[in-house]
Amino acid sequence: MNGPENVIIVGIDGSPAAQAALTWAAKDASRRKAALHLVQSFFVSIEYAGPGMMVPPQVFDDARKWAQRSLRDARTDALRVDPDLVVMTTVHAERPFVALRNASKNALMTVVGSRGMGMMSEILLGSVAMNLATHAHSPVVVVHADPDGDPPPAPAAPHAPVMVGLDGSPESDVALAFALEEASLRGAPLVAVHGWDDAPLNGFQRVYALEMDRTVIDEDERRLLAEQLAGSATRYPDVKIRQLVERGHAGASLLRTSQDIPPCLLVVGSRGRGGFAGLLLGSTSHRLVIHAACPVAVVRIEQP
Ligand SMILES: Nc1ncnc2c1ncn2[C@@H]1O[C@H](COP(=O)(O)OP(=O)(O)OP(=O)(O)O)[C@@H](O)[C@H]1O
Ligand SMILES: [Mg+2]
Repeated sequence: MNGPENVIIVGIDGSPAAQAALTWAAKDASRRKAALHLVQSFFVSIEYAGPGMMVPPQVFDDARKWAQRSLRDARTDALRVDPDLVVMTTVHAERPFVALRNASKNALMTVVGSRGMGMMSEILLGSVAMNLATHAHSPVVVVHADPDGDPPPAPAAPHAPVMVGLDGSPESDVALAFALEEASLRGAPLVAVHGWDDAPLNGFQRVYALEMDRTVIDEDERRLLAEQLAGSATRYPDVKIRQLVERGHAGASLLRTSQDIPPCLLVVGSRGRGGFAGLLLGSTSHRLVIHAACPVAVVRIEQP
């Protein structure tokens, strides 16, 4: 099987979040010497004109022209980040999620804004971002922007780390590989976080009056985290790795840690050790793509 092509896909729709996604992706493409492929999709519903009515062809033409114009602007913005970038653009007359999912085949990653144009301000994550995080063929990076676009989200500090959530699952192994590569490319440290949920212990202790020493469990979990990280320092001697074990539900722990030590990127696997067979996006990743303020990468093991 061929590996991915050295191309980063970006979903463009003219929204502030897509603009933030474009800037993030252009910087990453510049570091990786990768090409950018900007994808804009327009979809005119056939119900648009009312039952039994034809949509005037002008509507399609106008939508296509608007998309082409917005892509031209986006291309100019990307070249402002790095004039040497190779930037391709394509317009698709289909649902954005379908166009982006198809484009994600063989891509290094697909980068989208957390929400698009014209959505209710209380929605934190748009359907394109959520569907891609669940179904894309490549890693997906969701870049958040302030819902009203003003003020823009604070940029990560110059030496902000890359953060990764590890639970010992094969998916979190691929998340670790992605995070190490990002950290190395940026010259950034890596913060590896492992949460263990002590809430079930509270219940046991109430029922059985057991004496449980949580610090002993902390030590066990620390050992597991160190085991998962074994070999990372040899593969990436340039990346300084900090290991953190946190008590509490994984999603809450990662969210809290990403607020305490704001990373330039938070990386998780699509699935973890829990969940049920066939689940495409676990609850930890689901929570983080919605609520984390920083860009979140969801990395998956592609099923053949
Ligand atoms: N305890 C944890 N500590 C740190 N990171 C975690 C932990 N659990 C999960 N993660 C991160 O989140 C990713 C997705 O796991 P998630 O928990 O969302 O899925 P799941 O275990 O399959 O399903 P669920 O937990 O919802 O039943 C993992 O690959 C890992 O990167
Ligand atoms: Mg889990």
